[in-house]
Amino acid sequence: MTEEKDRIIESEEVPNEDKIENTLRPQCLDDFIGQEKIKDNLKVFIEASKKRQEALDHCLFYAPPGLGKTTLAHIIAKEMGGNLRTTSGPVLERVGDLAAILTNLSEGDVFFIDEIHRMNHLVEESLYPVMEDFELDIIIGQGPSAKTIKLPVPRFTLVGATTRAGMLSSPLRDRFGIIEHLNFYNEEELIKIVKRSSLIMKIEIDEDGAFEIARRSRGTPRIVNRLLRRVRDFAEIRTCGKINKQVARESLDSLGVDEAGLDKMDRLLLSTMIEKFDGGPVGVDTIAVSISEDADTISDVYEPFLIQSGFIARTPRGRTATELAYKHLDLKMPANKQKEFL
Ligand SMILES: Nc1ncnc2c1ncn2[C@@H]1O[C@H](COP(=O)(O)OP(=O)(O)O)[C@@H](O)[C@H]1O
Ligand SMILES: [Mg+2]
Repeated sequence: MTEEKDRIIESEEVPNEDKIENTLRPQCLDDFIGQEKIKDNLKVFIEASKKRQEALDHCLFYAPPGLGKTTLAHIIAKEMGGNLRTTSGPVLERVGDLAAILTNLSEGDVFFIDEIHRMNHLVEESLYPVMEDFELDIIIGQGPSAKTIKLPVPRFTLVGATTRAGMLSSPLRDRFGIIEHLNFYNEEELIKIVKRSSLIMKIEIDEDGAFEIARRSRGTPRIVNRLLRRVRDFAEIRTCGKINKQVARESLDSLGVDEAGLDKMDRLLLSTMIEKFDGGPVGVDTIAVSISEDADTISDVYEPFLIQSGFIARTPRGRTATELAYKHLDLKMPANKQKEFL
């Protein structure tokens, strides 16, 4: 990891984090905090399909990174009593890669495809008959003598995850029976996640300490867990391991995570919009070039939270910085700008 990219509030997984994440991952729906509507729906669907002794309908989860998509795939497999097979869109390069996995599945298994919007066309198209009729069409030979054979596939549940619902083709989207969007978590839920993870990691933490970590974690469980580990390091040196408000504040401040959960990169993004582009409207690609960041990363990782918390507004002409953004950076919004918002 380079210095630049090592964001403490990076909501995507960073290397070596998966092991720790697995120990903190809720194992059943009742342990999964928040997202009540999704949990209620899944409970009903899971129970109904178990009663009918059928595989659960294919599920699609879309949300920014770190909100619990992979966790839900694990939980579904567990609740349905099947095995979980995991892969991701870019890894499935050829139809053969898909065939190799599908032919090894058993009835009732869960096949999880992360970043499903990044699957190549041929693989995606060969998935349609699989999802619909549990048959994989394989073409044997070439030219006029080519033949298609239909390979039966055990009845399984496909779980797809994506950060970009808009990038999914509609034929693929339409083949999912259950489509759910995960929202950012509210403060109360985040506090519960801090406490749950602290218990598992055997960290002593008080109410104010938990609140401080929760509110700076961008509504994202993965960031909660990461901040918790970093604050614990500070606490071990300063307060014999106990996390209170003061040690949480001091450590998060020194990590550059401010009270709104924004880090250096978020603030750079906002200040660039304000100072270089007069507060916008400005296109993502233009912002990307000015802060030397990838446009997709801006749209997938930074923007959703900045929009959700009201720092950026999306307009047909591009992104604009809101009055809240000016205030957060201690800048005054010009009067003519304020009018635009009215
Ligand atoms: N609802 C939740 N309750 C408790 N912890 C959660 C919840 N959702 C996610 N987590 C934690 O956050 C981490 C990241 O979640 P994950 O499912 O990998 O996110 P995604 O796949 O959407 O990027 C997991 O290790 C898990 O510990
Ligand atoms: Mg994931």
